[in-house]
Amino acid sequence: MADEAQPDDATVLQARDHWNNVYRHKAENEVSWYEERPDLSVSLLRSAGIGLEAAVVDVGGGASALVDALIGAGQAHVTVVDLSAAALDRARQRLSGASGIDWVVADARAWRPERHFDAWHDRAAFHFLTETGDQSAYVAVLKSALLPGGVAVIGTFAPDGPEKCSGLPVVRHDGKSLQRLLGPDFDLLGSISHEHHTPWGSVQKFQFSTFRRRGTL
Ligand SMILES: C[S@@+](CC[C@H](N)C(=O)[O-])C[C@H]1O[C@@H](n2cnc3c(N)ncnc32)[C@H](O)[C@@H]1O
Repeated sequence: MADEAQPDDATVLQARDHWNNVYRHKAENEVSWYEERPDLSVSLLRSAGIGLEAAVVDVGGGASALVDALIGAGQAHVTVVDLSAAALDRARQRLSGASGIDWVVADARAWRPERHFDAWHDRAAFHFLTETGDQSAYVAVLKSALLPGGVAVIGTFAPDGPEKCSGLPVVRHDGKSLQRLLGPDFDLLGSISHEHHTPWGSVQKFQFSTFRRRGTL
């Protein structure tokens, strides 16, 4: 991890300000990525063998209802990581009183996890990393967080999806491009296409790829 490129402070601060501004000024269903029920994410985690006893981290989880769905089903532990404190405050208020949740304000490129996880989930955060140094810093954090045998579900805009999200450029992916970036420590278990319907009725083409972590920490 120590020899991986880390984002410079200015980049981290710029991203944090952008996202805090979004979550402070837009209602939950005024953002394109709003999803009332994260059914696909839950089903991909379950089909990869992630049971209720597993520890799951939702990276770039924002104000997503994934944590509600998992904890509501009886998930033993969920950590939600996001660089926006405003996003996490929103979700935390919704779930006040729930146990088994850690809320972590951190940039996924520089996060130092304090525990290991059985599953890593990311819907629409990784695709904002457009520089190779940022992508490899993220992969280094993923490797340090996910147990061998653990599962990573990564949802991004698909190759025929939008070129921007929240006004920011994205890199569109498929299973193969993600496999190249994640490297030989991960086996691609499968990829599926998904059409996300925004709150205003437009369609965004996503892909979700599921990987299993090999080897040792
Ligand atoms: C398009 S939103 C998706 C939110 C959530 N995953 C969902 O499905 O509703 C992207 C999220 O990623 C977060 N994010 C963007 N870049 C990040 C980074 N480098 N580290 C951590 N979070 C990041 C943003 O704050 C935002 O909450």
